[in-house]
Amino acid sequence: MFVLAATGSAVGLGNIWRFPYITAENGGGAFVLVYLVCILLIGVPILAAELSIGRRARRSPVNALRSLARSDSGGRYWWLFGYLGMGAGLLILSFLSVIAGSAMAYMVRTAGGVFEGVTARGAESIFIGLIGDPERLLAWHTLFMAMTTVIVARGVRLGLEWAAKYLVPVFFLLLLLLVLGGYLFHPEAFWQGVGLLFYPEFSALTANGILVAMGHAFFTLSLGMGVMIIYGSYLPAGTHIGKMSLAVAATDTLAALLAGLAVFPWVLGSGLEMGIGPGLVFQTLPVAFGQTPAGSWFGALFFLLLVIAALTSAISLFEPTVAWLVENKSMGRPRAAAWVGGGAWLAGILTVMSLGPWAFDFQFAGELRVKGMFDILDILTSVIMLPAGGLAVALFAGWVLYRSRTLEALGKDGVRFRLGYLVLRYVTPLSLAAIFVHTIGVI
Ligand code: PHE
Repeated sequence: MFVLAATGSAVGLGNIWRFPYITAENGGGAFVLVYLVCILLIGVPILAAELSIGRRARRSPVNALRSLARSDSGGRYWWLFGYLGMGAGLLILSFLSVIAGSAMAYMVRTAGGVFEGVTARGAESIFIGLIGDPERLLAWHTLFMAMTTVIVARGVRLGLEWAAKYLVPVFFLLLLLLVLGGYLFHPEAFWQGVGLLFYPEFSALTANGILVAMGHAFFTLSLGMGVMIIYGSYLPAGTHIGKMSLAVAATDTLAALLAGLAVFPWVLGSGLEMGIGPGLVFQTLPVAFGQTPAGSWFGALFFLLLVIAALTSAISLFEPTVAWLVENKSMGRPRAAAWVGGGAWLAGILTVMSLGPWAFDFQFAGELRVKGMFDILDILTSVIMLPAGGLAVALFAGWVLYRSRTLEALGKDGVRFRLGYLVLRYVTPLSLAAIFVHTIGVI
């Protein structure tokens, strides 16, 4: 069951909103290839490390790091990374909820035919109309956060597992429908999309692209903030963690590739520009849907897909902090969920305001340019806090925990374990260090 819950956490906005445009921007197939290597070399080892830390300790991330450091080879301050993860998770939750809320607004609008025959200009002004209207955005943000809080408050069984059991299959069904729709309405563009995803154009791949792939591998598997530690703590003793990590990574990758196949045909088939960045989903795609017969329906389904994807991820972002409140502050679960939901809701107001009234534009010394609080939060979390958390987990699992105990937790010794362990100790930390150095350069 927790394979599904972990899949639900992993499959999210990263797959549907981010993956298609970063792929289009960075040379298609070549980027996908690098991304796959990153998933295998960075993603899977850290995922397995987090799950096994959780299952060994059976506690919230902060307490898991503290107790395992004590029982194995030591180190006093590892638990600090538990707090770092909690902080990153809450910040991500705060803006994810605003994006998910916007997707809900778009679901209603596309279904109502607002985008039929709309021009790029028109779509842009509709988008600005939403994000520039704090009251509206706040209402959607509140609704999404309330939904998530209720699910989390219901508990691990009735909340998390229930949501994963129903929402993840629905998600894949919708995704397949959209791919099918793209194929039926834009058969030529569909094959162009396939080419884009699988034909490696190495000349379009830059060093920056490689680092984007690494960072994304990280984000898309929900690593670096203790989410997978807490999910690991719910895993039954018999689950084979190595296999499970591979299964989650494979399903997540499949979802990303399918999302590419669901998005590209509509955009390419309508003769629109592909590499336009984060606006792909909210500005370009509605134009594409608006130009296609029955596009409104597919549009509404697409935004529903986005909402479901965000919901199962958001649930998982609550979990490290909820578990910590339950353990350390002896709170009941519903109260803990209310605190986390309330806190993240409050923080989300920053994003709401920053998209409209409080927008500003700031150019750092390097390439980095931020347009308000939302960008700052996004960069702070996915570029700095998550890789830092991931690096800590890799070092913790590879160097602090005793190898024999990790082996015991993971099952049998073999080539696969030895290889994975080697990667975790050397390749993963070095790659993450490279991300950091690059990031500093960009800022
Ligand atoms: N993995 C999710 C995605 O791909 C995002 C996420 C990050 C969810 C971190 C939970 C924790 O969109």
